[in-house]
Amino acid sequence: MSFDPYDAQLTDPGIWDVYAAARPVVHSDRRGGFWLLTDYDDVRSALRDPATFSSASGHRIPTDGTQRAIPIDFDPPLHTAYRRLMATALTPARVREMKPFLERTITDLVGRFAAAGGGDVVREVALPLPLLVLTELVGFAPDTVQQFREVTEQMWGFLAGGGDFAAARTRIDELMRRELTERRPGFVTELLDADLTDDERVSILATFAVAGHETTMNSVSTLVHLLVTQPDLQDRLRADPGLAPRVVEEMLRHRSPAQNFARRTTCPVRVAGQDIAEGDAVLLSFAAANRDPARFGDPDRFDVDRDTRGHLAFGWGIHQCLGAALARSELSILLTALTTHPPIRAAGDVVWSGLQGGNHLGPTRLPIRFVQEG
Ligand code: HEM
Repeated sequence: MSFDPYDAQLTDPGIWDVYAAARPVVHSDRRGGFWLLTDYDDVRSALRDPATFSSASGHRIPTDGTQRAIPIDFDPPLHTAYRRLMATALTPARVREMKPFLERTITDLVGRFAAAGGGDVVREVALPLPLLVLTELVGFAPDTVQQFREVTEQMWGFLAGGGDFAAARTRIDELMRRELTERRPGFVTELLDADLTDDERVSILATFAVAGHETTMNSVSTLVHLLVTQPDLQDRLRADPGLAPRVVEEMLRHRSPAQNFARRTTCPVRVAGQDIAEGDAVLLSFAAANRDPARFGDPDRFDVDRDTRGHLAFGWGIHQCLGAALARSELSILLTALTTHPPIRAAGDVVWSGLQGGNHLGPTRLPIRFVQEG
């Protein structure tokens, strides 16, 4: 099979058939060669066994060891120490404390968008929201976060073209170094006080900059796409705002915004009857696992009433997403804010991205309008 996670044609909706055809395991000869695991039990078992499925060669294909993003490209014990430090910015208490800020920011953003009658939701809401949150969460300067999209897209382009990770990261790293010298209060200062090298600090900030915006941006746009393609869902949310967290979870399961994460085996292992040699690259498809019919019945159907527990959209085990509680909170507040305005409808065709960085999927353009009632 020649599955290439950087293939720009690989997008919604065709990508779901590609995953289905790859069950339970296939070998791809692209990008240095790797195994693609798609079944729920296999992906989750791999995530539960980081000693066999190591992250230390990188979370993207090719797992050539050039990626060293903290904490995601590290195994214990270093991973444990880095993660503990980063978790201080995202504790449940911190997320609770941020709730009034999130409510204010999201209500304002959605209110301005609705007052204008709509527009491209990706540009007007989905991107600005996580950027504003990062200024509050980490203490990034507003003019720094404005550059995150451009530098991230440059990085995705570089990786898709076969460039190496270190070179792709140069511009983001420069931006992060500047943030450190400015010593703005917040998590940045905590990092400066911690026993770390400057390279480590830069890597941690770059993780927040990229992981903190790309995923949330895609989640917001995917949620809004769902609302305009299923207007009855808007009615249900309006009648019962308590439904918002269920809509969020089912969207995460059904169209997982962060789709595939790589590992490298540290010993020979057998998966779904297939022998995988020591040192082989393995791409775990969290998105495909979330559509495994053996785990979620009629998996291609969006069903807000289904039991989504155990979905892998935030991963599982030691690398499980540190920003999950924050992201869940942002997305539920967004849904609630949207339903305080008139219903929304598509005002043009949605454009989906290819897998950005081999991983992230979401609309890049989604024009919508608010229906004026009465
Ligand atoms: C809906 C939005 C999000 C999704 C779907 C998502 C998804 C994921 C997934 C699947 C992983 C596991 C990767 C692996 O196993 O290799 C992960 C890790 C991570 N995420 Fe998220 N993420 C989201 C939002 C965020 C946000 C808002 C932040 C920070 C502000 C964040 C920070 C991180 C970090 C630091 C890790 C690495 C954890 C580790 O290696 O121990 N994420 N995320």
